Amino acid sequence: MAAGGENVASLKRQLGQLFEVSIRAVVPDELNVEPVVVPSAGKFGDYQCNNAMDIWSKIKGKGTEFKNPNSVGQAIMGNLPKSEIIESCTVAGPGFVNIVLSKNWMAKSLQKMLIDGIETWAPQLQVRRAVVDFSSPNIAKEMHVGHLRSTIIGDTLARMLEFSKVEVLRRNHVGDWGTQFGMLIQYLFEKFPNVDDVNEMEIGDLQEFYKQSKKRFDEDPAFKERAQAAVVSLQGGTPKYREAWLQICEVSRREFQMVYERLGTHLEEKGESFYNPYIPAVLEKLTDQGLIVESEGARVIHLEGFNIPLIVVKSNGSYNYASTDLAALWYRLNEEKAEWIIYVTDVGQQQHFNMFFKAATLAGWLPVDGSYPKVSHVGFGLVLGEDGKRFRTRSSDVVRLVDLLDEAKSRSKTSLVERGKSEDWTEEELEQTAVAVGYGAVKYADLKNNRLTNYTFDFNQMLNDKGNTAVYLLYMHARICSIIRKSGKDIDELKKTGEIVLGHAGERELALHLLKFSETVEEACTNLLPSVLCEYLYNLSEIYSGKFYSNCQVIGSAEEPSRLLLCEATGVVMRKCFHLLGIEAVYKM
Ligand code: ARG
Repeated sequence: MAAGGENVASLKRQLGQLFEVSIRAVVPDELNVEPVVVPSAGKFGDYQCNNAMDIWSKIKGKGTEFKNPNSVGQAIMGNLPKSEIIESCTVAGPGFVNIVLSKNWMAKSLQKMLIDGIETWAPQLQVRRAVVDFSSPNIAKEMHVGHLRSTIIGDTLARMLEFSKVEVLRRNHVGDWGTQFGMLIQYLFEKFPNVDDVNEMEIGDLQEFYKQSKKRFDEDPAFKERAQAAVVSLQGGTPKYREAWLQICEVSRREFQMVYERLGTHLEEKGESFYNPYIPAVLEKLTDQGLIVESEGARVIHLEGFNIPLIVVKSNGSYNYASTDLAALWYRLNEEKAEWIIYVTDVGQQQHFNMFFKAATLAGWLPVDGSYPKVSHVGFGLVLGEDGKRFRTRSSDVVRLVDLLDEAKSRSKTSLVERGKSEDWTEEELEQTAVAVGYGAVKYADLKNNRLTNYTFDFNQMLNDKGNTAVYLLYMHARICSIIRKSGKDIDELKKTGEIVLGHAGERELALHLLKFSETVEEACTNLLPSVLCEYLYNLSEIYSGKFYSNCQVIGSAEEPSRLLLCEATGVVMRKCFHLLGIEAVYKM
């Protein structure tokens, strides 16, 4: 909690609480009517309460005193407790209650946020601890753009939940276990026969190493047999094999870490191997419950609504992705006591998740009504190249993530230089801004889409300084900062001595949008949709420039102190949005 003040409920919640009181008074017997308060699109109010029609349908014909939905709406309005939030209300048509907010209250709330800090606007969620399982690449295999999406989306979800005071376990469920390791280890031993100590081994390019060993595996049956024996030795815990495995994992880990550092994210690795010891007991429980049955030599769970069973032990006796995920879920629920477990992967894996979620529900681990503890699969679409096909680079079929980030940075640096920035800025400033803009552009281009749709990776589009891009948004933010700087006023002093007055319609509209920040983050968290926050941020920027700044002179006007405070509030909210999206703000551009 911020030093300055108490957490305040979102505007929507505060209104909801008022209408709840009123609805209880109007229909005391209808206890399960929840207040429905939503922002208004029309001119008649800022928000509206939409309960009247629904209430009417519940009470009509039951000897009610009300004549129609409109009279229910009138009563809801009439029973509202007194509040400084609401200026006035009207009832329209079939009982919609239009709410006009008090300008005074809006101004005061903004000013309070400026003093107490944006943390006081954090949404209030019901969850205390969540697991976000994201990024999760596979050791020795490529970390591809799909993993980049998972990393970007997962990091933002984690940030939004953390801001909402949820304790987040950021889990990297790396694929560090499985049959490919037999092949890798065997290849390692044969390629470097003289080196006993694998720690000295220079594997170098792991992806290349994986390719070579795979080729050998596919072409040489004798090698294949030795590789299969190596898996058995590894899983049996033979020290030499275990050390080689650790060594290979370490090389991969270093590569992943490079990407995470660039992206400014952090994860805590609990790979597939971690859950391996838990699998037997978990499967035994499920077998005792009668869920796991024998089928053609394998052990499976039959699930209604799916035309294939969930295989949990393969016919050769080994465990798989599903058995690991069941054990991991068991661990997260029982050992880590997480209430919400969120998995971020491409939509291609949806069926896998739906199946093991269903199995867990049948086993009684999760409530059937979808209440907590809860699991969610956050699926996302493919990354496409400009040709509309799966994204690849000219030189190879896999896209190296580090190269992508490098290119975004160098392109943004070039355009800063073209705009003459190298003359006024130090090389360090240039470099820092290029990184913030370049990486920010890659992230924002991903996050702004509805995650389920495929998205086209296009440097020109994402680095455009016009339209809905990080470049435009960062630029707007820098402009706001520059206005405050140019005024020569001490903004921290002004927060205490100045007063926000919402005289002009543009000022009021800006203030209203700012006040919707908390409920927007809440919605983005609840529906696991970063795009909701991006849309909010883009609209904020548009309202600031199109409604406020173009109509309301700031510097040199009579309203300057108030307007500077509005600029500052916009800056504060924009910076928090950037932060939640994992984008570094820039102050001049
Ligand atoms: N390693 C998997 C992949 O690359 C993603 C793992 C996602 N998490 C999970 N618990 N299944 O596709």
